[in-house]
Amino acid sequence: MALPRWRTQSSRRVLSLGLLLLTIIACTSAQATRERISINAGWRFSRFTTNPDQLSYDTLKSWILPSANDFITRTKYKRPSGTPPGSDVQYVQDSFDDSTWDAVDVPHDWAIKGPFGAPGISGGEGKLPYNGVGWYRRKITVEAADVAAKRNLYLDVGGAMSYASVWLNGVLVGGWPYGYNGFRLDLTPYAKAGDNILAIRLENAPNSSRWYPGAGLYRNVWLIKVSPVHVAQYGTKITTPSVSAQKATVAVSVTLENNSNNTEQVDLVTEIFELDPATRKAVGDAKAKISRVSVDVAGGAEKTVNSTVDVPNPKLWGPPPKQTPNEYVAISTLYVSGNKTIDTYETPFGIRTIIYDANKGLVVNGIGEYVKGVCNHHDLGSLGSAFNVRAAERQLQTLQEMGTNGLRTSHNMPASELLDLTDRLGVMVMGETFDTWKRQKVANDYHLLFDDWHEADMRAYVRRERNHPSIVAWSIGNEVPDQQYAEGGTYAKELQDVANEEDGTRQSTSGLNSADPNKAISNVLEIIGLNYQGEGHGTDTSSTYPNFHSKFPNKMLWTTESASTVSTRGTYIFPVTPNITAVVSSSAGENTTAKYVSSYELYSPSWASSPDKVFVQQDKFPYAAGEFVWTGWDYLGEPTPFDSASRSSYFGIIDLAGFKKDRFWLYQARWRPDIAQAHILPHWTWPSSRVGQVTPVHVFTSGDEAELFVNGKSAGRKKLAQSQYRVRWDNVTYQPGDLKVVAYKGGAKWAEDSRRTVGAPAKLNVTADRTTIRNDGYDLSFVTVAVVDDKGDVVPEASNGVAFSISGPGEIVSTDNGDPTDMTAFPSTSRKAFSGLALAVVRSKKAAAGSITVSAASGGLASGQVVVQAG
Ligand code: GAL
Repeated sequence: MALPRWRTQSSRRVLSLGLLLLTIIACTSAQATRERISINAGWRFSRFTTNPDQLSYDTLKSWILPSANDFITRTKYKRPSGTPPGSDVQYVQDSFDDSTWDAVDVPHDWAIKGPFGAPGISGGEGKLPYNGVGWYRRKITVEAADVAAKRNLYLDVGGAMSYASVWLNGVLVGGWPYGYNGFRLDLTPYAKAGDNILAIRLENAPNSSRWYPGAGLYRNVWLIKVSPVHVAQYGTKITTPSVSAQKATVAVSVTLENNSNNTEQVDLVTEIFELDPATRKAVGDAKAKISRVSVDVAGGAEKTVNSTVDVPNPKLWGPPPKQTPNEYVAISTLYVSGNKTIDTYETPFGIRTIIYDANKGLVVNGIGEYVKGVCNHHDLGSLGSAFNVRAAERQLQTLQEMGTNGLRTSHNMPASELLDLTDRLGVMVMGETFDTWKRQKVANDYHLLFDDWHEADMRAYVRRERNHPSIVAWSIGNEVPDQQYAEGGTYAKELQDVANEEDGTRQSTSGLNSADPNKAISNVLEIIGLNYQGEGHGTDTSSTYPNFHSKFPNKMLWTTESASTVSTRGTYIFPVTPNITAVVSSSAGENTTAKYVSSYELYSPSWASSPDKVFVQQDKFPYAAGEFVWTGWDYLGEPTPFDSASRSSYFGIIDLAGFKKDRFWLYQARWRPDIAQAHILPHWTWPSSRVGQVTPVHVFTSGDEAELFVNGKSAGRKKLAQSQYRVRWDNVTYQPGDLKVVAYKGGAKWAEDSRRTVGAPAKLNVTADRTTIRNDGYDLSFVTVAVVDDKGDVVPEASNGVAFSISGPGEIVSTDNGDPTDMTAFPSTSRKAFSGLALAVVRSKKAAAGSITVSAASGGLASGQVVVQAG
């Protein structure tokens, strides 16, 4: 049974099915075709804050480097002879009793449960205990028939943070140090029929990241069983060299690997089907078929088969709303002895063209697609770095609602499944790899690995993800200090060359922060990526766009990072700057006691600016291809400007819990001008001390004019002048009552919004983003509690304590409220509301169907509940 690599939600069911199947097969004969078996369930785990085993990357390194061999072009590493290190460590032994260790399923982030305030871990790293050594153990069962048939057994790890080293039956197999990259290890030589003990050691040094990196086996883990002759790891490459309405020429390259000692003759057939976005399965009849070719693959060698085929009337992949993200899947089947299938390999892909135009920007299928992108880190808020498809989908869907069409996976490779989502949803991705090269930013970052691993990390990543239509560019680095030096150009060329060797259909970029057209790196990069440099820092409006555009008239350029506006949802701090941007400080935008930043959305650190200023500058340089805003969602760590006090960022347009900050509507107004909307800030429920005080009212709208009414009286109708992105009434005096705005477009009424002075908290309103979820043990419902007054309006500054409870086949995994200063551990079922809202993340239980009731209670308030169906 071939399991497509993108089917992750059902992986636990797949595990039990897989085991069942294996058991059945054991009684008969070895499975002939590829099996991809989830081994996410059933691990034992322990974390040690002091090294429990005397091992280290340095002692293991010469045994781990050969794991890179498939991804380096220089001389391959030889596995050292003799007994590999670690065989005497008790945790790798079958006899070790791990029953007192934690029973965990992966994806697992050992640090996310907290507590906050981990010794030696800064606010920049999220204050969570990600450091230390972690051991994971699990039994895997191998059927005698598989051994007899000499089937190959691989371990595929989607990502392990970090310095993974893997033992099977007490023998060190290999490993992969960079925690963001996926890797495969060949377990075949060390496996035996029956039970095998798999042990994985991870080690995270503190001070290894500028944000919260997460910790553990935090992505999916698979066992792959294949015949000795099979499609190699990441062994397909599909491109669409020519596309018209009538037909697309699809080039398919399939690399076969033969791990037997003899030359084998195999037949290869590849068929192309449409991919159903909902089921992720091939639908209908084949749209094209590459006729059978017979191939001799020498023992111990690889062979690549290149073919082209035409797909008639292709349905193209492109980003909405202008285009539709249609997908195809190529199914390659290997036969021996006539019609005996020995391998089936599925490659989802898309048909599209891309032009990187120095004046028009990105042109996808002939259509200009200005990049309205965001940067995101990999964590999923209170779920930490443990990858979850639904949590990632929620992030992307909320961003798309804002008009986002681009994502930068800052500053590293994401889970592969995230790219399946961006393919399906139609989000254009800048696939980033590194935050540092050879020169460090923090003491234990990637610079320690660069020399040995950068080629393998880059090559493995591009080979793995090159068939995703959503990837529109590779990013080889972010603000790497090496950019200043001549060798920055050398490294850039090397990394970019790797991308071209493995792919060759996308251009590469890098986020430059001391961008200079005369630096070696600028000469090398195919796309110039500017971090903040295109819009000028702080209040300064100088731009480096023109310098680059004149020096490199044929290179596309874009803003790889913009804005870095900081704010705390629902928090307004006075006085408000009269300018369109201001550098945040104790006298501008900050509440230094509470550690909050004003949500007037005008404040940023000195290197950055408000969205308004970015827009003004962008409008001056229409040849630039667009931007990636720092950031779409808040993330764990880097809580500028309160770096030592808080636990999560202030940069997000959407807070850590997924609640929208005011900025959401500012971006939506610019990015989705077709959506009729107007959005007023601030709230209008202030204590008596504000009565009579100047309280500016700002409105974000996709209209071009707006009239504000304060307690029924017009405060003036104003047109948005050129280079204005908000309508502002800066002299409004606060009196309790109501605000109403009527927005116009082209003179006609377009949208309205209102605020009123609300009453005291009266009850909890409980709602779920989805009231039906799959009972697969992965699917989530995000449950929001709003503290409302007796009329049902959210009480804007409510901070009532909320106690969550649950009954039925589900569990509360975590809670949050988006407050970057809240040090309540994420698994806590008690959480204060922040700016009127709190969140519980509810997960289904595997194979348990029924009604899940999530209740929220708070002293003195009417409680609320919501029912979610799992099935
Ligand atoms: C950039 C950097 C990002 C983040 C951001 C905060 O310079 O590339 O990783 O630190 O600043 O403004």
